[in-house]
Amino acid sequence: MSTLDDEPGGTPVVYALHENADWWPPFERAFREAGVPVREWNLVEGSFDPASAPPEGIFWSRISASAPSRGHDHSKDYARSVLSWLESSGRRTVNGRSTIEFEVSKVAQLAALRAAGIDAPETVAVIGAGGLRDAARRFEGRPFITKHNQGGKGLGVRRFDSVAEFETALDAGELDEPVDGITLLQEYVRPAGGFITRVEIVGGEFVYAIAADTIHGGFQLCPADACAIDATTGLPIAPPGAEAAPEPGQRLFTLRRDVDTAFAERLAQFTRDLGIEIAGIEFIESADGRRVVYDINTNTNYNADVEAEADSSGPASIARYLGALLRERYPA
Ligand SMILES: Nc1ncnc2c1ncn2[C@@H]1O[C@H](COP(=O)(O)OP(=O)(O)O)[C@@H](O)[C@H]1O
Ligand SMILES: [Mg+2]
Repeated sequence: MSTLDDEPGGTPVVYALHENADWWPPFERAFREAGVPVREWNLVEGSFDPASAPPEGIFWSRISASAPSRGHDHSKDYARSVLSWLESSGRRTVNGRSTIEFEVSKVAQLAALRAAGIDAPETVAVIGAGGLRDAARRFEGRPFITKHNQGGKGLGVRRFDSVAEFETALDAGELDEPVDGITLLQEYVRPAGGFITRVEIVGGEFVYAIAADTIHGGFQLCPADACAIDATTGLPIAPPGAEAAPEPGQRLFTLRRDVDTAFAERLAQFTRDLGIEIAGIEFIESADGRRVVYDINTNTNYNADVEAEADSSGPASIARYLGALLRERYPA
């Protein structure tokens, strides 16, 4: 459905606002198994009347920062408009109007982390390309990375070991322009064990944590993506930032059973304080004993191998949570 005009009305359902059909099947299945009625609302192109009454239901936004990488440049502002309309009309949204600002801005994420007293990487946000050279001097003598303020899928993440190396890349025009014009320069935090941790939260509750292998997986850790394969050798290619090519069939994502649950609970409390109801929060345990939180995702594509191994399920937790909200608001 691209507009609400073709919405028949009637029984309230859960509406899933998103822009990538490829990511939908595991959620469709989870809602079906939970017996919760769900309808996709594809926010790529469409129209609506902001003075009209929206349909009744629970509105869950899964709009992703990486939408422009799929040619969906307008999804962010489409979602902002629709969520404003829904909330002004008194509808219950999940990951609503205020959450999308965290999804599309790492600056907003880092500022909120700092305000909550959570360690986050030292970062400079550079608006426009003109100030990049000067801003990089702050990291002289230590490795740093570039990333896009509106990221997702490791967009624009690249490591530099010196300012000179960065200047060479700049001069060669190798840095992609971010969609919002904001590039982050950030201290490189070396993961002590060669992995990052991602804590999954649904309805403000910790579900499980995964470890993602950065030695073989590098910076592009979209759990839904398969590794790229070299067409001539048929072997996996080392992704950007990886230190070694993955072995054929190697799992880059595993369940992390030994995560510090007190820390996971602290992150869950952080999302509750911000009104973010569904999140995946990434952190690095560094060689010097820091626990550095660097990415707040307000949607997750749950990895199938991890889902098979874990005692709980991301999509099932979401279906149950949204189903409960639906029943609470529209009792039979
Ligand atoms: N400050 C950092 N130091 C070291 N590695 C980092 C840092 N920030 C990000 N990375 C690596 O790059 C990956 C992508 O960065 P991230 O901030 O999560 O962007 P995205 O929103 O695109 O996922 C991370 O999963 C991690 O492996
Ligand atoms: Mg990330």
